[in-house]
Amino acid sequence: MGIEMAVFAALLVVMALVLIYTLKTGISPHPTSPSVKAALLAALPERLEGDVFELGSGWGTLAFPLAARLPHCRVEAFELSPLPWLVSRLRLLFQPLPNLAIHRRDFHRAPLGGAALVTCYLHPEGMERLKAKFEAELAPGTWVLCNAFAVSGWTPYAEWIVQDWRRSKVYLYKV
Ligand SMILES: C[S@@+](CC[C@H](N)C(=O)[O-])C[C@H]1O[C@@H](n2cnc3c(N)ncnc32)[C@H](O)[C@@H]1O
Repeated sequence: MGIEMAVFAALLVVMALVLIYTLKTGISPHPTSPSVKAALLAALPERLEGDVFELGSGWGTLAFPLAARLPHCRVEAFELSPLPWLVSRLRLLFQPLPNLAIHRRDFHRAPLGGAALVTCYLHPEGMERLKAKFEAELAPGTWVLCNAFAVSGWTPYAEWIVQDWRRSKVYLYKV
């Protein structure tokens, strides 16, 4: 009975933690689906050089394949929610990728100036706030790859509709 209560209490803490950070950031750490992940990887610009910033990296669903696909680029992943961050850090121990760094940090506090590519999967209000940061910090020529939500008012360099049940969209921009 003691162990059952401990497991139940631990589960409650985990769920509460995820919920608190979902409310704080405005989005749950739900991962990119396999079909959208494939579309994002296929949308990567050719001959990309420099740093890649994955903003809100969740469980690492996109950060790991990005780092594996772009071994010559440094992938800086930012995640605020402690549990997904911890899980992705543990995953990095078992699946080491020397070019991947996962930070527990609010990406709004991270300077984006050195990025060659920025990726994000957020929500409309989050994209609106990011747009101001992008316009203030991203250098001309920086690529921005968005899952599901567009940067309002920007003209995409390319966009795709994924053949999933949601007909998810992927947007690629060049600043
Ligand atoms: C929909 S999930 C996407 C996860 C991952 N990018 C993927 O494609 O699977 C969005 C993530 O962004 C994180 N997030 C939202 N705002 C954030 C912020 N300001 N700083 C760091 N992480 C943030 C959330 O905690 C959540 O895990």
